[in-house]
Amino acid sequence: MPGRLQDKVAIITGAGAGIGEAIAHKFAREGASVLVADDNADHLRDVDDTLRRQGCRVASYAGDLADERHAQACVQAAVDKFGRLDILVNNAGVFLANAETQEYPVEAFDRQLRANVRSCFLMTRAALPHLRKTRGNIVSAGSESGELGIAQNTPYGATKGFVMAFMKGVAVEQAKHGVRANCVCPGPVDTAWTHADTGPMDEQMEQLVVASTLLGRRATVQEIANAYAFIASDEASYITGAMFFVDGGVTVAKGNVGLQVPEELRRPPAIDFELKHTRSGLAGKRTIEA
Ligand SMILES: NC(=O)c1ccc[n+]([C@@H]2O[C@H](COP(=O)([O-])OP(=O)(O)OC[C@H]3O[C@@H](n4cnc5c(N)ncnc54)[C@H](O)[C@@H]3O)[C@@H](O)[C@H]2O)c1
Repeated sequence: MPGRLQDKVAIITGAGAGIGEAIAHKFAREGASVLVADDNADHLRDVDDTLRRQGCRVASYAGDLADERHAQACVQAAVDKFGRLDILVNNAGVFLANAETQEYPVEAFDRQLRANVRSCFLMTRAALPHLRKTRGNIVSAGSESGELGIAQNTPYGATKGFVMAFMKGVAVEQAKHGVRANCVCPGPVDTAWTHADTGPMDEQMEQLVVASTLLGRRATVQEIANAYAFIASDEASYITGAMFFVDGGVTVAKGNVGLQVPEELRRPPAIDFELKHTRSGLAGKRTIEA
């Protein structure tokens, strides 16, 4: 049976770790040719090697996608390698600090803006001429925090608010050219970011983000990748301008409702991708803890 993304060509940014690595595996399994891009060349090589060993059609691009030159070159690399572009996944991003606004490091603000906002704009800008030729689509990483306020990393939520408003605008503007644009908006996901030992969150923040989901647990990266594959596929041909929340219900919750979920129901489904860097996405990214 052909996959959901059979014969499509997709770029996945931030594919060296976390959710992006899982999206790359999911898209490849669904029949897509994938160009994986990241600014961590070592992680990227591991992902590329694994997919290649599994017989997937894969290419990679290492570079900072918040740099215009790299964004252009990344899109061109996909077109040169595979001859077309059908899907852009703007997943790259950083979550750098745990500090109240009055003490929030300006340097972390600037870096977050570059990685989360500028890369999304530049990649979208570079990809659109190619997506218009294929009637393709863009799926960007929104977040529950683009909808709800989040304390102790207020600028992060604001970057996601940008991405979500930006995708709505692109959806309105590009519909006449046959291009769809949407966001997948995760709640807390089991990557480096939501664990006190691998990211800037402290223990209290970590417990809070999990307890406030209806399901009482984080999403696995595969559960998020599944949603990306659907939204990017032709099955979602009537979906554009959508903010597709895959958040364990956190945006409709009130209080710590997740604590009521019995332990056995909090067990996540098993992951059946060969992932190398689920929790190492922030390695070398200089995070700041309160
Ligand atoms: N983890 C969560 O709980 C969560 C929740 C909501 C939304 N999201 C969103 O999902 C996306 C992925 O998050 P994750 O948890 O998988 O993160 P992660 O840190 O595990 O992976 C992100 C990857 O992006 C890469 N990257 C960052 N800046 C880049 C740049 N300028 N150029 C190229 N590559 C760059 C990093 O090197 C890393 O490999 C982010 O956009 C994030 O905002 C995550």
